[in-house]
Amino acid sequence: MYPIKRNRRLRTNEAIRSLVRETIISPNDFLVPLFVVEGKGIKEEIASMPNYYRYSLDLLQAEVKELWKLGLKSVLLFVKVPDNLKDNKGTEAINPDGLMQRAIKTVKNACPEMLVMTDVALDPYSVYGHDGIIENGKVVNDDSVDVLTEMGLSHAEAGADFLAPSDMMDGRILSIREALEDDGFTDVGIMSYSAKYASAFYGPFRDALDSAPVDVQDIPKDKKTYQMDYANRFEALRETEMDIDEGADIVMVKPGLCYLDIVREIKNEVDVPVAVYQVSGEYAMLKAAAEKGWLDHDAVMMEQITAIKRAGADIIASYFAKDVVKLLS
Ligand code: PBG
Repeated sequence: MYPIKRNRRLRTNEAIRSLVRETIISPNDFLVPLFVVEGKGIKEEIASMPNYYRYSLDLLQAEVKELWKLGLKSVLLFVKVPDNLKDNKGTEAINPDGLMQRAIKTVKNACPEMLVMTDVALDPYSVYGHDGIIENGKVVNDDSVDVLTEMGLSHAEAGADFLAPSDMMDGRILSIREALEDDGFTDVGIMSYSAKYASAFYGPFRDALDSAPVDVQDIPKDKKTYQMDYANRFEALRETEMDIDEGADIVMVKPGLCYLDIVREIKNEVDVPVAVYQVSGEYAMLKAAAEKGWLDHDAVMMEQITAIKRAGADIIASYFAKDVVKLLS
């Protein structure tokens, strides 16, 4: 009882605080999202994501080597597809010589030990900006899964280590897992975006890839028929458990900060690693506030990243990865 127990003794100075600290951030926590474009010598800043860039393949090599030197050993690749290659069938998504397939090889050539994860979804390839195929004004499930499965296989053939389906179609994990097994890609893993919410925080990402749903008659204006309703909690557990049953090696909650209750709940229930995606809008908010001098960038960044890990994230996909690791060193 007080005053025999005084909790402030464990907070007296930084030495004791660091001794009893429960959550420690290291480079091993991070998965680094990378945006890739066609062309040469391109490193272009994304307007709504200050200090974050799209790279052409030649400059991607240098970036990946720098990440490796900083101790960042895993990347998650996204490609910006030229408009003339977009359709409603994902044709370009399964092109063995497509930008993603070349990006995978580029990263592996530059840095053979780098773990390469790839985004599997149709939105960057879709004229409508949707993650699947549209028929009669609807995003259809099973035909989309067929293309996503072929897309996953083509990433595996190009050398991807992990596939990261971000599309939220039903049954795609099982379909992709079975196809990988049938084709002998038994070592290629799946990190499933299991509890991915229909979130307004994805805006800057859609700027980065020019992949927002189009505003055209009879085309859904949002992704609410496949991404989850942010009011729901039990549904996240159901989605996650199904993905594990279907063969997911890692499950993910997305976005991050607003969903840490879901992260903790899933972490308590499942026995596979849990990833959290701190998404583009979360990055943009802090960059903007810091630019205005309203928030201390580094302090808030560390507080947010630590909160994500404390909530139960084993892996954090974050645009802050490089900033954090530089700050730590
Ligand atoms: C698309 C995809 C999105 C993100 C990752 N994959 C956007 C979306 O679902 O519309 C968002 C990532 C971010 O905002 O940082 N399948």
